Amino acid sequence: MHHWSRLPLLPTHVKIVEVGPRDGLQAERGEVATTVKIELIDRLSKAGFRNIEVTSFVSPKWVPQMADGAEVMAGITRAPGVLYSALTPNMRGFEAAVDSKIDEVVVFGSASEAFSRKNLNCSIQESLQRFRLISKAAKELNIRLRGSISCCFGCPYQGAVPTGSVADAVRRLADLGCDEIDLADTIGVGTARMVAEVIEQAATAFPLERLSGHFHDTYGQGLANIFAALQVGMSIFHSSVAGLGGCPYAKGASGNVPTEDVVYLLDGLGIQTGIKLDTVASAGDFISSALGKPNGSRAGRALLARVDGSR
Ligand code: HMG
Ligand code: MG
Repeated sequence: MHHWSRLPLLPTHVKIVEVGPRDGLQAERGEVATTVKIELIDRLSKAGFRNIEVTSFVSPKWVPQMADGAEVMAGITRAPGVLYSALTPNMRGFEAAVDSKIDEVVVFGSASEAFSRKNLNCSIQESLQRFRLISKAAKELNIRLRGSISCCFGCPYQGAVPTGSVADAVRRLADLGCDEIDLADTIGVGTARMVAEVIEQAATAFPLERLSGHFHDTYGQGLANIFAALQVGMSIFHSSVAGLGGCPYAKGASGNVPTEDVVYLLDGLGIQTGIKLDTVASAGDFISSALGKPNGSRAGRALLARVDGSR
């Protein structure tokens, strides 16, 4: 194999957090049957993901699509070694998540004040008070805690977000005792240089090996941003099978970077993920057909059509 002499040292292993069942499906307008969600999650655990974000325990008035979180958790076949995560905005959500035997709860805040108000109906400061209660309860029960920061690269309401606001948000979530912190590009506006800069800033407040990149692909920069993030040493990424999704509070924003495309990139770089690309592609085909939508992953479509000729 060609020696990558011109590339900087990249991580040898990457963890991909599959967020399709949550971030991907949350904005679907039509009803998605609980059985379809369950089958999707089981197909994903068979594909080798070690961490799947399965649902949210949020107000069903705000996000009706996630109202069946408890049924989804009760219906899946729990694969050993897989961490099942869910979003929990408040103690009510946390308690529902615990009842459903969620392994990791996710508190989700924002680097932008305007987005916090739209998404959580409260200020950044108020959201932190809620998260503090969740953090305390999670530590007592020994449940993993992840913190997600929206709008690290731009906000649909406020526009530019200063890098300093991102670093502040990281510091606050680090103080809460988060095991992992996500830097989210909610509306997919970030570009490679910005990504490298924001990650380097964030890494002054929290260990780089526990920071993750959550890139939406609105401007088609997802893969380039992941490559830029790998170059500065990031090794956890979120992606969505078949590129499903979009955030209900970020109008016009498209789904996360498609998982199949990310795995194809990482396989090509010789980076270990533990994920079977063909199995993910077939999960992507399953969910796209179930939703009656075109498959949003280029690599997925190519694999399903056997365009590469070698498989
Ligand atoms: P609120 O209206 O300010 O709070 O909502 P509230 O306490 O007054 O509650 C309002 C109603 O919701 C009440 O019901 C509560 O009982 C109920 P009512 O009395 O009107 O019948 N309620 C709940 N029901 C079920 N589970 C709960 C719960 N809490 C309250 N946990 C709240 C505040 C946070 C609840 C609301 O704003 C909400 O649910 N927001 C959801 C936001 C959301 O899910 N956004 C999408 C996910 S974030 C995202 O996609 C970004 C991310 O991907 C990263 C990125 O890309 O940027 C993570
Ligand atoms: Mg998102």
